[in-house]
Amino acid sequence: MVRAHSPILVLGLVCGMSESPARGEVIRDPYIQLTTRSSSVVAWRTDQSIAPRVRYGPAPGNLSQSVPAEQIVMRVSPEMKGLPEVPRLGQSTPEGVYQFEATVSELAVDSKYYYGVFDGDTLLAGGTEDAFFHTQPRAEPGRPLRFWVVGDTGDGGIIQRNVYDAMKAYVAADGRRLDAFVHLGDMAYDDGIDPMFQANFFDVYAGTISNTVTWATMGNHEGHTSDGTLGIGPYYDAYVLPADGEAGGVPSGSEAYYSFDFGPIHFVCLNSHDEARGEADRMATWLRQDLAQNDSEWLIAFWHHPPYSKGSHHSDLEDQLIEMREVMMPILEDHGVDMVLAGHSHIYERSMLLDRAYVTPTDPFGVILDDGDGNADGDGSYLKSAHLHPHGGTVAVVSGHGRGSGLSFGLSPVHRISLKEGGSVLMDLEGDTMKVTMLNEEGVVRDEFQLIKRGEVAPRLPLSDPWCPFGPAIVASERTRGKVQAHLIAQPDVPDATVHYTLDGSEPSPASPAYGGPIDIGAPTTIKAFSVWRGGERRSPVTTREVLPATPGSLRYVRIPLLQAEDDAVESGLGIVDLHSSTVGITSPEASWFGLRFQDVRVPRDATILSSFFVMRPALLGMDPAKWTVYADLSNQTRSFTEEIGGLSTRPRTTASALWNVVAWTGIGHQLSSPELAAVVEEVVHREEWAAGNSIGLLISGAGERSADSFDGRAAGAPEFWVVYDERDALSVAVDGGLTAHVTMTPEGERRLFASFEILNSAQARGFVYTVEGSPTMEPESWETLNASFAGTLQGRRPGLSHLAFEMSQPDGGIFGEKYFLRMRVVR
Ligand SMILES: [Fe+2]
Repeated sequence: MVRAHSPILVLGLVCGMSESPARGEVIRDPYIQLTTRSSSVVAWRTDQSIAPRVRYGPAPGNLSQSVPAEQIVMRVSPEMKGLPEVPRLGQSTPEGVYQFEATVSELAVDSKYYYGVFDGDTLLAGGTEDAFFHTQPRAEPGRPLRFWVVGDTGDGGIIQRNVYDAMKAYVAADGRRLDAFVHLGDMAYDDGIDPMFQANFFDVYAGTISNTVTWATMGNHEGHTSDGTLGIGPYYDAYVLPADGEAGGVPSGSEAYYSFDFGPIHFVCLNSHDEARGEADRMATWLRQDLAQNDSEWLIAFWHHPPYSKGSHHSDLEDQLIEMREVMMPILEDHGVDMVLAGHSHIYERSMLLDRAYVTPTDPFGVILDDGDGNADGDGSYLKSAHLHPHGGTVAVVSGHGRGSGLSFGLSPVHRISLKEGGSVLMDLEGDTMKVTMLNEEGVVRDEFQLIKRGEVAPRLPLSDPWCPFGPAIVASERTRGKVQAHLIAQPDVPDATVHYTLDGSEPSPASPAYGGPIDIGAPTTIKAFSVWRGGERRSPVTTREVLPATPGSLRYVRIPLLQAEDDAVESGLGIVDLHSSTVGITSPEASWFGLRFQDVRVPRDATILSSFFVMRPALLGMDPAKWTVYADLSNQTRSFTEEIGGLSTRPRTTASALWNVVAWTGIGHQLSSPELAAVVEEVVHREEWAAGNSIGLLISGAGERSADSFDGRAAGAPEFWVVYDERDALSVAVDGGLTAHVTMTPEGERRLFASFEILNSAQARGFVYTVEGSPTMEPESWETLNASFAGTLQGRRPGLSHLAFEMSQPDGGIFGEKYFLRMRVVR
């Protein structure tokens, strides 16, 4: 809350009350807020009215100076009687609380002062070795600075404490204390009410915050009870933040978003929770003004909702995350931001050195400047020119693992590492190098990178073959009566990539065989593979997949993955075709098209298609109503998709089509099937020019946005095509229905006859009529058509065929004899 130098001062009131014999007890230990190069705020709470004094000086035993009374602001619990002039704390504050915020000013730059808080002349708290504050260093690079960065801590549980203890042990071991604590939000689960702040923030971190300034950003949990747009609630009671540019930067007029200088670093804190995030809204407007005036050596921004995450929150799916990326990242990068820090996702994740990664879904192509691990002991530190320059590269860090980790959707395509464990981040500025260390809850360093800003680094073009968080895609083509073939597709799928693999479950190495073509699989096999590219300089993670051989049985089918980037394409409402989009589907708001081309479809000409469909895996959620139509391409069975205008919509297509009322896509990565395409595919394979092994292109048109994994986005999740077929003509298949008879006896001793057989699901569409005939003798003249009444569906249904049972009766209602013969006839 903004209070220093507020006109509401409490000197007189407090002096009057200090004559009361009751002595206040400190109920919130003193903690440090809003340090500048010449001032610091000391805040604390008591349960009684006191005559507040802060004394400070060069040693705990020499607190020779005192803060003028008009620089101490008091606020009290809302119900407090008799203090009409005194501002109130939030509604959830317990009764009887007095909060004091003392601004100690006119201090020397970068200097340490010990303090004590007093009631009149009685020491209440402080006056010890660990009660001190430190004014901020000068802008010029000087002594090393250390920041502790963590979010999503606030449940008061064991992991939160372990993470904190691990940081303290690490800091104690190397002897370099923290200069500031940057909290990334969600520090008071579940609802950010005042007692939760006390229990889950102040009580836990008392030993650090009594001598280390905290810079905080509001999380969504604080947002349950605090309002960032108004700056009220327990969060704003807890922190004193620089709305007026007290610590450098342009005044924001809000404690929910603000900036400050800390040595050579300009920090920007944004409110990603409840502030309007539009380009023309006040936060973006202020941000542009603030950054235009900033000439610090470093620029670091932080807020709660991460611009890139696939942890417990997915940055392609949630508005706050998407808007922070699409709106705020461009402004920050225009002004040379070096790092952005966020929490919210309960995970540790951090990016490569990136620039202009704004699109949704996040796409690694054209945005990665350095795809190494950023570590001097690995691929080398990230390098940027000294000073701030637009678009020199940003590292984005998610440190939302302060009380453990949760879900993960896998690695974002711009991330270099993702770790599902509790921990926190230390950021050490030493000279021109920012060293970032992820320390897990056991105190083990799990990630480390350095950002060096030195001299002039030549501007870099984004990499065309950036490191990719996925190992090779291992996809299988499958044919009954043949073997399964495994295809290993390098990710990124660049010309100089080589995939090395093993088939015995052992870890592959560069000495393992290099993939040269499909691998025949005749027994259950564990394939492990990784890619190397850029002359061996880059190596992907290892992918593992269990591949099972073709399912035994009489069913003939092919299962075909997409095998090259050009085989999926999207066409916008304007007719522009994109062969390399990171998702496939109806991806523009207008009615538009997408195409999928599956190669080597080994279905014989004139085969009967029993069932066919393709599967897709959602890359984004999709809730709009969506109605699509699926056709097959008749232009030429082997003609690839091209980028000419209208390249999909103008192709000749099948007369047969399938309507698809697409359900809402509410899960990412779950496989979804198209409607039945048997008639569409049959029209293709019944053409004169069809030959087994040709390609089948599917053309899908419609409205209602849905984006699925594409070959370019994630080859392992790209669409797959299934065709279940019978080489014979449809009539032969229909007749070969496996007629069987069952007889049951009623309690009255009456014999009842049932016939069961498989019928083609497409029988009606084909004009097929099934009849069952019976005869007691099998004499040619003795056969008669029986009446059939539907008795139900039996187990054992195969794709395209349904196993049904019918009760049979003779036309004249006669009784079946001991011996009776049945036969089935199908006519068109
Ligand atoms: Fe959160």
